[in-house]
Formats: sequence, structure tokens, C-alpha cells
Amino acid sequence: MSLMSRTMASMARSTRMVNNKSATLSSAMHLPLFKQDDQQRRHQHTTQVPDFQKYKKSATTSGDASRSFAYMMVGTTALISAAGAQATVSDFLSNMSASADVLALAKAEVDLASIPEGKNVTIKWRGKPVFIRHRTQDEIAEANTVNVQELRDPQLDAERVKKPEWLVMLGVCTHLGCVPIGEAGDYGGWYCPCHGSHYDISGRIRKGPAPLNLEIPEYTFTEDQLIIG
Ligand code: FES
Repeated sequence: MSLMSRTMASMARSTRMVNNKSATLSSAMHLPLFKQDDQQRRHQHTTQVPDFQKYKKSATTSGDASRSFAYMMVGTTALISAAGAQATVSDFLSNMSASADVLALAKAEVDLASIPEGKNVTIKWRGKPVFIRHRTQDEIAEANTVNVQELRDPQLDAERVKKPEWLVMLGVCTHLGCVPIGEAGDYGGWYCPCHGSHYDISGRIRKGPAPLNLEIPEYTFTEDQLIIG
């Protein structure tokens, strides 16, 4: 026997041995290969696929109609939201507006006849002190002799009063907010002891660290009253 013939005979023997082993394995598992394929085929044939046809969008349904419905829903939702927002804002603003008693406190009324000439009165307005000075003729004259160009915060006395005899100012030092003392200091007006600021008889800063004159609040006069605020 030639070498080629011996090799082919050996390969044939090996193939038979492999087939015998596969057959033995399949037999041991009791699941022959051809039986598995057959079962899968039968399973596929018996599976019932649900019919989803009725859930699919009909070809006859108009695209415009569904779009209009979507727009209508969006528009309705937006209108309802806007109405709710308006109601919320209205409630909020009505709650935030000042009540009558708060508005009354925003103004202070002072009887002018109760303040003699040459005297100071301090009242509290919106949580701050307000100085009211009934000035004498000498004090008015002194306030008008100052050269305003030399002042740190140049201001004529006439710009700070509505009636020369009545000086009305916030009693808050413009440096760091202390309350100055009346009829004190080097200029016969007000003196802030916190850091040594001197204000004149018109409440203008003349000496010390304060940068500005004492602030003038909003006020008006009636016949016999001063109304602050
Ligand atoms: S707070 Fe008045 S001088 Fe400083």
C-alpha cells in the first residue's frame, strides 16, 4: 500500500471515530440534533403573532386634523397657565401693597407752634431721627455769609431750606451714620462725637471725616404744620 493510500485510510478511520463519538454524545443527552431543529421549526409555526393593525395610524386619517388638535391642546394649556399666573401675581401684589396704617406712618406731622425760636426738636420718622431747627435771624444771616466754594459739599443755605427759619434734616452723620449732637461743634450747628465731624447752622459739613452735608428729607408746610414724607 502506498503512502497516499495509508494516509487516506487513516483519515477515514478518524472521521468514523468522530461520527461515532457525536452519535454517542447525542444519544447520551437524549436530544438528537435533527430533533432539536425539528422542535424549533414546529415552535415557530405555532407562535401566534398579535395583530397590531387596529393600533396603526389609518392611512385615511388627515395629518392636518391631528396637527390642529395638537395646536388646540397647546393653546388651551397656555391660556390656563397664563390665567393662573395672572391670578398669582395679582394676589402677590395686593398682599405686598402698603396698608393704610403703614402709609400713615410714612408721614410725620409736626405742630410748628410747639417749637420756639432758637430751639431744636428731634422726631423719629421711618426709623430715623429728623432734626427740626427753628432758626433765629442771626443764625439765618450766619448761614448765608459762608463762602460755599470753600465747602467740601458746596451748597447754598437757600438750597437746603424752604423757609429760612425752618431747617429740617435727617439726623444721621454722613460719615458712618451716628446721630450728631445739636448746638455743638466749632460752627454752632451739630457735632458728631463718633469721629469728630462738625456741621454748621445749615447742616453743612465743615470739619471732620464726614463727606457730605446732612441730608434733607421730603417735607411740606401747611398753615401751621410741617409734614415730613
Ligand atoms: S460717624 Fe459721624 S464722624 Fe464718623
